[in-house]
Amino acid sequence: MITVKHGVFHLQNERSSYLFRVRDGFLEHLHFGARVSASDADALAARPGCGWGDSTLYREGSNANCLDILPLEWSGCGRGDYRESPVELAQNGLPISTEFRYTGCEALKTPLPSALPASRGQATLAVYLEDSTAKLRLTLLYGVLPTVFTRRAILENCGDAPVSIRKLMSSCADLPGDWTLHTFSGGWIAEMQHTETPVTMARSCLESTTGASSSRANPGFLLAAPNATETGGEVCGFNLLYSGSHYLSAQKSLQGLTRVMQGISPANFSWELAPGDRFETPEAVMAWSDAGFGGITDCFGRYVNEALIPPYWKNRPRPIVYNSWEGCMFDFTEAKLLRLGKLAKQLGCELFVLDDGWFGTRDSDTSSLGDYSVNVKKLPNGLKGLGEKLNTMGLQFGLWFEPESVSPDSELYRSHPDWALHDDLGREDLLGRHQLLLDLTKPEVRDYIVRSVGGILDSAPISYVKWDMNRHSCALGAKQHAFVLGLYDVLRRIFEPRPEILLESCSSGGNRFDCGMLYFSPQIWCSDDTDPVERLRIQQSLSYLYPPSTFGAHVSASPHAQTLRATPLSTRGNVSLFGCLGYELDLTELLPVEQAEIRVQIEFYKAHRRTLQYGRFTRGRTDGGGAVWQAQTREETVAGVFHGVQNAASGYERLRVTGLDAGKRYRLESRAQLLRVGDFGSLLRHVLPVKLNPNGLAVQTADSYYKMYDGQQTVTASGAAYGAGIMLAPRFAGTGYDADGRMQSDFGSNVYFVREVQS
Ligand code: DGJ
Repeated sequence: MITVKHGVFHLQNERSSYLFRVRDGFLEHLHFGARVSASDADALAARPGCGWGDSTLYREGSNANCLDILPLEWSGCGRGDYRESPVELAQNGLPISTEFRYTGCEALKTPLPSALPASRGQATLAVYLEDSTAKLRLTLLYGVLPTVFTRRAILENCGDAPVSIRKLMSSCADLPGDWTLHTFSGGWIAEMQHTETPVTMARSCLESTTGASSSRANPGFLLAAPNATETGGEVCGFNLLYSGSHYLSAQKSLQGLTRVMQGISPANFSWELAPGDRFETPEAVMAWSDAGFGGITDCFGRYVNEALIPPYWKNRPRPIVYNSWEGCMFDFTEAKLLRLGKLAKQLGCELFVLDDGWFGTRDSDTSSLGDYSVNVKKLPNGLKGLGEKLNTMGLQFGLWFEPESVSPDSELYRSHPDWALHDDLGREDLLGRHQLLLDLTKPEVRDYIVRSVGGILDSAPISYVKWDMNRHSCALGAKQHAFVLGLYDVLRRIFEPRPEILLESCSSGGNRFDCGMLYFSPQIWCSDDTDPVERLRIQQSLSYLYPPSTFGAHVSASPHAQTLRATPLSTRGNVSLFGCLGYELDLTELLPVEQAEIRVQIEFYKAHRRTLQYGRFTRGRTDGGGAVWQAQTREETVAGVFHGVQNAASGYERLRVTGLDAGKRYRLESRAQLLRVGDFGSLLRHVLPVKLNPNGLAVQTADSYYKMYDGQQTVTASGAAYGAGIMLAPRFAGTGYDADGRMQSDFGSNVYFVREVQS
């Protein structure tokens, strides 16, 4: 709901209110938080006291006109507000002052057309401001959705001389209160490191400068009140619908206002605005909750699932994928793929993805990007032949592409070297993963990609695409924003006419896990690091900002390729269950007991898929030190308990299941998970009447035919008891196998589901 009454602008959704008003021509920020009424405006407004000794008054005579101390919705440059400005412009190479004053507003009946992604189904208010001296018009767009608000800015040059934009943020607001900034930064295979920084007068910034939203700095962040917990306290969440270099900053003023802004990174940014031209910023998203971090997770989860991803995929179950990459890399033939496909089908997978290596002469990452000729040595029957055979087996077929890059060793590069991005001063090209980026600012390059990828998609029964992007380009320079616009154009033209193709975006893992990509691709590959211990951290961090339905989460081999850590197959499965489950390992190497374990993982996933992909996600801990993930729908709750390095003689452990009705009764059941007899090592000699070699044939045979369950537990109790914490089965205490215990070694875990029963 949007109302504008008595000069007060009030945006309200199911959870919160956003209020501002016009004060002497400027937009004064009033409130972002609990639902209030517009008649509260005066009570919420700042009350500047008398005189600030060294301040610059906007107009002599009124202390209320000291822009530097007012909570504002926007600010200019050189007019007395010395805090960081959301806009920096230049003319003839020199910075100019700006002063944007209110001229009017309008509720938009239809959304403005945009080359950038925009939230779907929002009510929009356009607020018009003008700098009559610089001859600029600024439109601030505010959107209302059930659990979030959105903002973006459009700058128009109404003068007759060009203006150069050096910085133009999507949103800016001055929020009262004490806040801690939560950011998620990292790098390749180490994405989403959760950092907490108190907001002080020293500015905190997080920025990506790589041309991609980047695993160095996810665009999503939180401002949490000091007392915020998973279930209570105020938390504001922010994100940006943008996949290029971005910027956020938070800085507290002496008056205790935190100026928070987000938008395109100003680093190396420059955009010439010719007379009559407009420039639009990406859309920023903001959510508020007083139900703590869990509340914000819920706001963002609903937003992404209901208003961001492509409508065709809204609430649609995501298929269980088998992906060829970690099992085969570049080394495959059609026969090998079909053998893997057969096994994947037997285990319960639904979609077979052929990853990198199917085109040109790509037997390593040194060649062929940019070419789309199918490698007939590997695939004598082409993609169509392979796809049809997989379909006959009952599997859907998916394919990997990396359309934004070109290998210098490719037919495309040999015929169009000018299609690649090169250093602007002609310096030697710097390669990343032996490749260059294509110049997506050129229409002929975009046409080539749309034609080539579209042609392949129409040539075979392809129902899923993995869209990869494996290099950053310093050669992007000032073209970075135009490149992102080019990318969105290409994605729109390829996938809007083919809505039923499931697009999974990937960029060396999580280099583009952002709302811009989610607008086109309902799921994103979280990280090339599939070690479950690392994934526990990465997926947990992602869960603050994005729902599990967006996480590409695969089980891979142990010891893990990136960490050399050995982990139980049950835990690899349990972590991946909380996302879009997939398998990415050589299935021909699995032991029968491992095949059985994967089969039960997949059965469990199919039975609880809706909850695991779309349930309300929260995080917690047991009193025994286990991390808890909980996904909840009206029908059921699924909870995972994950441990790190195992201690001897671990104590009791209680699991709290939240969100249940205290007066109703519920039954908890553990997911059936299997142990290998061999996991007990030399203990076998002590507990069995026969002396067995743990690596010997007898144990291997026992593993093949004997099902040794782990952590089996059922409980029936009231919702109140679950809220207090129900006691979990005992953990291994060094004495022998107990079918009702949790025989956990390092990194052990269990998953439970809870459903109501009639008492
Ligand atoms: C990087 C991706 O993150 C991997 O999953 C895989 O698709 C490779 N590229 C293929 O080259």
